[in-house]
Amino acid sequence: MDFRFTEEQLMIQDVARRIAQEKIAPTAEHHDATGEFPLENIRTLGENGLMGIEVPAEYGGAGMDPISYVLAMVEVAKADAAHSTIMSVNNSLFCNGILKFGTEAQKQKYVRAIAEGREIGAFALTEPQSGSDATAMRCKAVRQDDGSYVINGKKSWITSGPVAKYIVLFAMEDAAKGARGITAFLVDTTQPGFGRGKTEPKLGIRASATCEIEFHDYHVAAEDVLGAQGEGFKIAMGVLDAGRIGIASQAIGIATAAYEATLDYIKDRKAFGAPIGTFQMTQAKIADMKCKLDAALLLTLRAAWTKGDTEKNGGRFSTEAAVAKLTASEAAMWITHQAVQIHGGMGYSKEMPLERYFRDAKITEIYEGTSEIQRLVIARNESGLR
Ligand code: CAA
Repeated sequence: MDFRFTEEQLMIQDVARRIAQEKIAPTAEHHDATGEFPLENIRTLGENGLMGIEVPAEYGGAGMDPISYVLAMVEVAKADAAHSTIMSVNNSLFCNGILKFGTEAQKQKYVRAIAEGREIGAFALTEPQSGSDATAMRCKAVRQDDGSYVINGKKSWITSGPVAKYIVLFAMEDAAKGARGITAFLVDTTQPGFGRGKTEPKLGIRASATCEIEFHDYHVAAEDVLGAQGEGFKIAMGVLDAGRIGIASQAIGIATAAYEATLDYIKDRKAFGAPIGTFQMTQAKIADMKCKLDAALLLTLRAAWTKGDTEKNGGRFSTEAAVAKLTASEAAMWITHQAVQIHGGMGYSKEMPLERYFRDAKITEIYEGTSEIQRLVIARNESGLR
């Protein structure tokens, strides 16, 4: 085992850190306050290979490994979580799924523009009545004689929905077959039959646009079916395994920002005649923050390494990804909570970014599978029981 990163991994981390600190961090407060979509910054990330980190160069990406993806996501999330949400959906949920399950023509048609950050991708699984219970979806796909499909229904909580050009969509063909009745499709939002519904006002990651989307007799050509008929649920779950590594990395970035701000603050802020960092109650919190952060990072790197290793043979890394996401998101929530507490009134004030970190951290325990779902996945995989 070698804990050192390669030169290439350090290089992409450095590129991400530079863009994050020079372009993203200075605009983070503005984007949080206004909810404005950070298109210009996303383009810059794309131009530097960060919107398709694991995408081979022939499809417009950086051709790097899953560890590089973790390192870059952490840097961007540290500067602003909303940017890292958009980045993770483009990278893991959109490009990754098409690379893994798509045809050569689909890779050529859909991946390049998203990997280069010229367009935005999205992933549509959730519906108003089905979140964790994804097989309860009602969005309906009806197969035509020529192998094309007609889609009708609604999807909700679609990250980047308001701005996405292309979407990976999951719809139900045969509800009686449950998970095996779901098929995946590639959707072009400029085509007739696609519509957008209400946008979601959110607690955090406010610059990552989220909305409902609707399909009214939307026509999908046979060549835009992703994977085999009835394989949609497995595609969604496989893609989410990769996505969960991205969200774990995002959680680590948010938690790192809160931790580093706290380390500075405890040296400056004095109470009872001494820096608050000299008090044992503060020291205990710092030690616990550090342990949780390191554990989250190591487990996330393990998940990324396992992804790279097992995918070559078509294997799964569901447990490692769930362990990483669960650990990192709960660490981020705990660390940002303690960081606000240590900062006291300043932690609660919008004059400092601590309250933003706290609000942004919460979503990592919810999307791409709640903490409860991660526990369910881990326990089922470990015990073999259902
Ligand atoms: N990879 C490949 N196949 C998988 C898989 C995986 N990770 N997990 C399950 N499968 C397969 C199973 O092997 C099974 O296949 P067979 O029919 O051949 O046996 C099939 O899929 C059905 O599996 P389950 O019976 O385990 O399915 P379930 O209905 O019990 O659901 C679940 C399992 C873990 C609860 C799953 O529904 C789940 O993960 N739910 C959470 C959904 C989620 O994460 N939503 C997030 C929304 S997207 C989002 O947030 C994106 C965003 O915008 C940021």
